Amino acid sequence: MMSLGRRFRVTVFGASHAPEVGAVVEGVPAQFPVDVAAIQAALDRRRPLGRRLGTQRHEADRLVVDSGIDGGRATGAAIRLHVANTDARSRDYQRIRDTPRPGHADYPARVRYGADADLAGGGIFSGRMTVGLVAAGAIASGLLAPIGVEVVGFARSVGGETATVSPDMAFSALRELRDGNEVGCPDPPVADRMERLIAEVRRQGDSVGGTVEVRARGLPVGMGEPFFDSIESVVAHLAFSVPAVKGVEFGAGFAASRMSGSEHNDPYEIREGRVALASNHAGGVLGGLADGADLVARFAVKPTSSIAKEQATVDLVRMKPARIVVPGRHDPCIVPRAVPVLEAIVAIALADLAMVGGYLG
Ligand SMILES: Cc1cc2nc3c(=O)[nH]c(=O)nc-3n(C[C@H](O)[C@H](O)[C@H](O)COP(=O)(O)O)c2cc1C
Repeated sequence: MMSLGRRFRVTVFGASHAPEVGAVVEGVPAQFPVDVAAIQAALDRRRPLGRRLGTQRHEADRLVVDSGIDGGRATGAAIRLHVANTDARSRDYQRIRDTPRPGHADYPARVRYGADADLAGGGIFSGRMTVGLVAAGAIASGLLAPIGVEVVGFARSVGGETATVSPDMAFSALRELRDGNEVGCPDPPVADRMERLIAEVRRQGDSVGGTVEVRARGLPVGMGEPFFDSIESVVAHLAFSVPAVKGVEFGAGFAASRMSGSEHNDPYEIREGRVALASNHAGGVLGGLADGADLVARFAVKPTSSIAKEQATVDLVRMKPARIVVPGRHDPCIVPRAVPVLEAIVAIALADLAMVGGYLG
């Protein structure tokens, strides 16, 4: 399915080498101000890194608003947004159409959709599909701002290089530090090492994975729906729709399985007359509902599958072993570009839950 959400509903459309990619966003109330410049700024953050670290496919990603916004306000109808695909090179993919790339979606997609399906550039399995998510996420952030909810994402690790980022850091400082380097990491010495690592794996014709952390501050205590629409469920559903995401954890996450209850429980205290949590192992969610601490989600991003090193595959026509050197232009590390995408999906999840719970409008 290409749509998700109950009240704030997002549909993505297009494909890697189709004329355009984008999103249809439903549920934004009529007259709500929509900052088109903020949507473009979010898209600019998703674009490829510089020549040393990024893919050589360069798309301008100029936002076009087709409908649903007039004079900076939502009309109440569905908002349709797209960007053109201008730098597609489908011939790169003609050569490998019968030899599926290991680690990409080529093989199961061919079995499912047939040999004639348009899978150039990854088709609907391409990272290009996240353009629509980022645009929708910027609208979601705009909806959350008036109720005091802010979302920020950053690169937490690349390979073995892990950033140290204080849990109390102001979001403005986090953003400023993150935007000071190409990898989107708010710990400058570690960012430097991440950049060098990415450049090195690229030189070796290989790729590297990592993690993205997204924090959300200001969630009303109790927000989230019980059981199937818990905050964790909705965020995880959206996160696993993002290509290359292989894991999600909240707060202490998998480390919780190695902790005792007395270590893991977040004690309550009264701070400035309000109930607060002294630690945040739960990642801001208890029983699927916001507990008043920051929502802290971390996403595992796999190493890019399309690498320059020769790999074993099969020829699906001859049914014989084959070797493949993947052509085309690829990111040696998806983490930096996944930062705005995963920030967007958390904003989308929270905007939908805020609407369903009656916290917005
Ligand atoms: C922003 C972004 C950029 C991506 N760029 C590439 C790329 O350049 N090359 C590649 O092989 N995969 C890239 N991917 C990942 C693939 O689309 C993904 O691995 C593939 O569709 C298989 O899906 P899966 O990894 O979720 O199983 C990118 C993903 C994202 C989110």
